[in-house]
Amino acid sequence: LDEESIVATVRKGMLPAHIYNDPAVFAAEQRSIFSRNWLFLAHESEVPDPGDYVVRGVLDDSFIVARGEDGDVRALFNMCLHRGMQVCRAEFGNTSHFRCPYHGWTYKNDGRLIGLPFFKEAYGGDRGFRRDEHSLLPAPATQVINGMIFVSLDPSTPALPERLGGFGDYLDFYMKPGPGGVELRGPQRWRLPANWKIGAENFAGDTYHTPHTHLSVSEIGLMPDARGGNRKGGAMYFADGGGGATFPLGPGDFRQRLRTIGYPDDLIDRRESSWPASIRTLIGENGHIPSAATIFPNLSFLHLWAKISETRTAPFTTLRLWQPISERETEVLSWFVVEKEAPEDFKKASYKAYQMCFGSSGMFEQDDMENWSSITRVAGGAMARRLELNNRMGLLENNEPVARPLTEFAGPGVAYGGFGEFNQRRWFELWCRDIADGRPPAKEAVGEGR
Ligand code: FES
Ligand code: FE
Repeated sequence: LDEESIVATVRKGMLPAHIYNDPAVFAAEQRSIFSRNWLFLAHESEVPDPGDYVVRGVLDDSFIVARGEDGDVRALFNMCLHRGMQVCRAEFGNTSHFRCPYHGWTYKNDGRLIGLPFFKEAYGGDRGFRRDEHSLLPAPATQVINGMIFVSLDPSTPALPERLGGFGDYLDFYMKPGPGGVELRGPQRWRLPANWKIGAENFAGDTYHTPHTHLSVSEIGLMPDARGGNRKGGAMYFADGGGGATFPLGPGDFRQRLRTIGYPDDLIDRRESSWPASIRTLIGENGHIPSAATIFPNLSFLHLWAKISETRTAPFTTLRLWQPISERETEVLSWFVVEKEAPEDFKKASYKAYQMCFGSSGMFEQDDMENWSSITRVAGGAMARRLELNNRMGLLENNEPVARPLTEFAGPGVAYGGFGEFNQRRWFELWCRDIADGRPPAKEAVGEGR
C-alpha cells in the first residue's frame, strides 16, 4: 500500500476511489485509526444498576461494559485468561458473575477472577495459583463524558476533552439537554454492505445530498424542512475533533424557535440552563440549530424534527456508531436519545419521529444505504484504482474557498454557509494525520481552518 501517495492525493482534495473498498487500506485504518482514537462503547444509562452489562466491540475486540457492585462502570476485555474463550456471549443483561462457557473460570462483574473448577486438583489451590492477581484485562484507557463511555486502545492518546476541543459544546447540545442528562433506547443494529467511512463523512457535513437523495421524504411532508433551499441556508462547521451541519430555523428568539420544532416550554427551560452559551446564541440569535455531526472517527449524531401527525411536529436526537466489520461491511448501531426528565408523552412522540425517519425502518435511512452500498461495490473493482473522486466542493482552482467563513456564527469552530465539502476535507485531514502517522501536511495541501 502506497500510503504516502494516498495521503498526498487526499490532501489535495481528491480521493482515490479504492479507499472505499480496499483490504490494504482497511488494515492501515485498523492499525492507525482504530488503535489510537477514542471510540464510543456505551452510555451509562444503558447500565443503570449494579450488575448491568452490555457487550460491545471495537473491530474484533469485544468488551464487557459492566457496572460493578461498587457502582463503578468498567470496560473489560471479553476474553478468558485461560484459553481465550469469549467470557460473556449475551448482548446485555444483569449478573454478579461471568462464567466462561469453555471450562468454567468465573469472574466477578468487576473483572476479578474468583473461581476455577477443580481448583485444588488442577492448580494446587492457593499455593499454586494466585487468583487475586488475575483479572479480565481492562480497556487501556477509558473516559466518560456526558455519560458516554469511550475507550482507547492506546493509553497515550491525548485526553478526550483535548481531542474534542471546540466540538465539546456541540456534544452538550446533543447529550446534555437538562441537568438529569439523557437516556438511550436501542441500539438497533444492522449490517450495511458499505465502507464505514462513507456514513461517518456524510454525517460530518454532506448537506448537498439531502435535497436530492431525500427528496421523497420532504415531498410526502414528513420533513418538509429538508428541501433544497433550506439546506443551502444552513451552515457547516468543524471544531477540532468533529464537525457537522446546521439547519436554519424560522424567525423568532430561542424559545419561539424551539417551540416551532415541537419542544414544550419546560424542556426549553432546561435547555436554556444546560446548553453552553455558544449553542444558545447559535439558536437564539443566529437562527441555526445543529443537525448531523461526526466525532472522528466513527461516532455520529443527528438532531431533526418530523411531522408525526397532521397537528404535531416532534424533535428527536439519535446517536450512531459506524462499526467497521471489513473494508466492505459496516455494522450500524443506532440509538434513540431523549432527555431523562422529559414527560412520557414527549418521549413517545420523539421516539415515533425517530423511528419514522431513521433506524432500520427509517425513510431517510433507506435512501442513504442504497447510495453507500453502491459506492462500496464499485470501489472494489479494477477501474476504481484509476479514479480520483472529487472532494473539492467549495474550493476554487487555486484552493481559495468560494466564500469566506461565516463571521457571525456563535458555535465553536470554522463555519461556512452554502454548500461545500469543507467538513469532509477536515474529517479526511484527521484520517491522513493517523494514516501518515503524524507527518504534517505538505504546503500545497488544502483544508480550511487548520
Ligand atoms: Fe475460559 Fe477455559 S477458556 S475457562
Ligand atoms: Fe442522508
